[in-house]
Amino acid sequence: MNKVDVVLGLQWGDEGKGKIADFLTPNYQVIARFQGGPNAGHSLKFNGQTHVLNTIPSGIFHDTCLNIIGNGVVVDPVRIKAEIERVEAAGANVRKNLVFSKKAHLILPTHRLLDAASEHAKGEAKIGSTLRGIGPTYRDKIGRNGLRIGDIFSTDFASKYKAIKEDHIKLIGFLGYTDFDLPTLEAEFFEAIEFLKAFNNSDSEYLVNSLIPTHKILAEGAQGSMLDIDFGSYPFVTSSNTISGGVCNGLGIAPQHIGTVYGIFKAYCTRVGSGPFPTELLDATGEELRKKGHEFGATTGRPRRCGWLDLVALKYAIMLSGVNYLIMMKSDVLSEFDEIKVCTAYKVDGVETTHVPYDLCNSTVEPVYKSFKGWTEDLTICRSKSDLPANFNAYLAFLETELGMPIQIISVGPDREQTITA
Ligand code: GDP
Ligand code: IMO
Ligand code: MG
Repeated sequence: MNKVDVVLGLQWGDEGKGKIADFLTPNYQVIARFQGGPNAGHSLKFNGQTHVLNTIPSGIFHDTCLNIIGNGVVVDPVRIKAEIERVEAAGANVRKNLVFSKKAHLILPTHRLLDAASEHAKGEAKIGSTLRGIGPTYRDKIGRNGLRIGDIFSTDFASKYKAIKEDHIKLIGFLGYTDFDLPTLEAEFFEAIEFLKAFNNSDSEYLVNSLIPTHKILAEGAQGSMLDIDFGSYPFVTSSNTISGGVCNGLGIAPQHIGTVYGIFKAYCTRVGSGPFPTELLDATGEELRKKGHEFGATTGRPRRCGWLDLVALKYAIMLSGVNYLIMMKSDVLSEFDEIKVCTAYKVDGVETTHVPYDLCNSTVEPVYKSFKGWTEDLTICRSKSDLPANFNAYLAFLETELGMPIQIISVGPDREQTITA
């Protein structure tokens, strides 16, 4: 029986999920997103061109691949219209190869405003959200107030929208946020709703389950395990389950259908937005990682915080998702550092531990590091394991021993071609 494989991020997002989903797509006939929304920015590079996808799955540039936006995703009609137009202009057949779940919730203009108002009201304590309306939309979903893709065809869509909007406006007023022009936002929203009516939509849980016996399906995660609503550094998290458990809810498939779980991590760590980051480097080394890794958000352009690889957090993420296939990204970025460090444990309030503490936000966490000698060779031109330098291999061997499994794909650059498989 075919299984649904999963590709997901093991850190704080931006691990390179887009590149790997695109790289793996030739082995799959269906790619499905199961959570998140346009807070994601997944970069793909091929034929010298970079494409950034936000809500559309990363298989869209392969003409034989069906791309499903699952029920667990939140969709902003305005943003997805722009994304579809961009991807169509780049040659993808979106009308044939994209399907929306009718049960995916809609991000309304006032959800975006609520996100901004809530961040504004939090001041210094803000989450550093992408301001895409993610939190407020999931809040309405769980609070049973949301609107879904399937509702856009109903005759009372406008009146349902109006009732929800009016509630939101009260809340926005309460938060003292006034910096917006709602009529303009609403005009583009309703134009985008009309645009979306021409695209395929379905009860995608039936579609996915009917395809399992005959098709290879890959579920593509967004964000990262340390941003998971339950297991991330709460409250500095996103509002969905980013771990493999989210695939069952986000697509409507049973746990026994889950197969290989590809876990993706960078050879170091990054985080964008607020919240704890034990191995963060606030010095020249952190700056160098940011510069060499071009660590600026694909969605918001914000500089990403950078630090050494954190094995405590990585092992936690591997455990949570049952990862059985590891992929290391951006190995090339570590070239030319004299010394490379890996965090093997935390000292929490002076006590050494290999567990992620409950209250990561309010504990004093000091990383315990193991140090490695760097290498000067340029990894971006390596195409097979035998091309990799000895010092890199020593770093890799240590990680494989610590993580208890082989690292089966090593990425050495953003391009599809810059990918070394075992
Ligand atoms: P995602 O959100 O997990 O899909 O990751 P992003 O696309 O937001 O960020 C990853 C960034 O790293 C993108 O700019 C990719 O083009 C780039 N990238 C991916 N893999 C590699 C790699 O192995 N080396 C380098 N230097 N860049 C990479
Ligand atoms: P991809 O899929 C990195 C972060 C935000 C913020 C927190 C909450 O490209 O890896 P939200 O807008 O979700 O309410 O923001 O989560 N965040 C991401 N960081 N990559 C992402 O997606 C992210 N999506 C959200 O910066 O700290
Ligand atoms: Mg990203």
